[in-house]
Amino acid sequence: MPTTPAPTSDNAVTRLDAVARDRASFDPAPSRRRTADVTVQHARSAPADVSGIGVNVGTKGAVPRSIGLDRATLVAAGFEGKVGQTLLVPRREGADVVAVGTGDGAMSTMDVRNAAAAFARSAAKYSTLATNLVDAASGDAAAAAQAVVEGVLLARYRFGALKSTNGTPSVDALWLVGSANATATRRGIDRGRATAWATSLARDLANSPPSHLTATRFARLAEDIAAEAGLEIDVFGPDELRRLGCGGLLGVNSGSTEEPRLVKLTYRPSPRRAKGSSPARLALVGKGIMYDSGGISLKPTDAMHTAMKMDMSGAAAVLSSMSALAALDCPNEVVGFMMCTDNMPSGSAMKLGDVLHIHGGTTVEVHNTDAEGRLVLADGLALAAEGTPDAIVDIATLTGACVVALGLGYAGVFGTDQALVDQIDAVAERTDERTWQMPLDRQNYRKLLDSDVADIKNVAGPYGGAITAAVFLSEFTGDVPWAHLDMAGPMKVDADDAWRTKGATGFGTRLLIELATTFTKPA
Ligand code: BES
Ligand code: MN
Ligand code: ZN
Repeated sequence: MPTTPAPTSDNAVTRLDAVARDRASFDPAPSRRRTADVTVQHARSAPADVSGIGVNVGTKGAVPRSIGLDRATLVAAGFEGKVGQTLLVPRREGADVVAVGTGDGAMSTMDVRNAAAAFARSAAKYSTLATNLVDAASGDAAAAAQAVVEGVLLARYRFGALKSTNGTPSVDALWLVGSANATATRRGIDRGRATAWATSLARDLANSPPSHLTATRFARLAEDIAAEAGLEIDVFGPDELRRLGCGGLLGVNSGSTEEPRLVKLTYRPSPRRAKGSSPARLALVGKGIMYDSGGISLKPTDAMHTAMKMDMSGAAAVLSSMSALAALDCPNEVVGFMMCTDNMPSGSAMKLGDVLHIHGGTTVEVHNTDAEGRLVLADGLALAAEGTPDAIVDIATLTGACVVALGLGYAGVFGTDQALVDQIDAVAERTDERTWQMPLDRQNYRKLLDSDVADIKNVAGPYGGAITAAVFLSEFTGDVPWAHLDMAGPMKVDADDAWRTKGATGFGTRLLIELATTFTKPA
């Protein structure tokens, strides 16, 4: 007797409805709402009502009296004054004091950010903080103030959207205490707030569960952000993508019950700002795989799967960095393409041997459905190149091979234009989102991607996987100077590390903000 499928019980339907309702009310970007709640101010001395005060203590010289302990006692407690070291000195009355190591006196911007993060973690119990770190910086006051704000706010970042009880309290007020120039300090504070909140947004998105933050949900959030942040937005769904011939994004999406979205954001500098010279034009492309199961080439371990809700970190970096451009009065025009879908196995999924038609007509034979990032980026790069910008930069959690090559601390950077790569390395140094250039050897490696039936296949042999992925992408960038950031390694940390809080790091957000705001056309 043929079996008919059991009817779905009303209970099951109700249960699923409840899940859908919970997900619909989920806010994938809670940090965005917190932005206005935090006050950051400059003062000559610490106000009376703060609960945690950081006081600079170097490895040499006198220990400030407010610490209440002498050097020998500090050293006996394991605190020598090195950058990153802190010692909490509780007080019976008034604010607790934290000795904050400032090293031997010449603190770089990176040192200041790291020291500020160490202070914020040491003072984790407190929500109103004061620190005089700006006075210990060797660089300009604006950069130092920005670094302090970034260090404190990013170290105290938490993804609390789905927790019933709060752990560490968030920072409500931060005072930058010191004698530094007030105008420069104010400018740094405003920049630091903008960059820290943008980074928190990227972390929120990457930390969000994959079934809560779908491609459609991402696009809806991008619409809200665009309205708030003065960006133009176009969202492309399945029908528009078919009309555009985006076979890469559609191919990867074909196994999913969730629709794909291509989100295009445009930032135009205010006419006042752009006056005089015509603004440079930069295009950003982000990999937005909301969940990467591998597809039919299913990923083999649970650990791999668990990390793959973060496979949209590139798209998050593009959205979050662009959300800050108007506030920072960016002088250049920036257009961003976020290629959003999940990568799932199913009866309708793309198969090995299938051939996809990328926007612009290039055909790609799929030899591994887990090499999906390059397929969605191919459409994005081809679209970006059509706009003939001065440069294209893509950012993606693209290959495990890049993690093998560089470890967790560096993103690989590849490019067709050395001046552009040099600009990226320089801004990455300033934001402490480290990059390392890798060879884009098309001459020797392109043949590894030759296909018997199509223009190119999506995977090469077992070696040099980060490079062959970059060589694949270079096929779609036309004559436009282009650079590619493979951020598979630094997309997350497994434990708190200075300003990086366990989980998604928001890598690339501050880097892209710095790049967009200082970008100059490659000659
Ligand atoms: N999203 C992964 C790459 C990844 C791995 C990101 C680990 C972050 C952490 C990507 O889509 C992928 O699966 N790449 C494959 C490519 C291979 C099939 C050629 C990989 O790296 O194994
Ligand atoms: Mn994959
Ligand atoms: Zn992926």
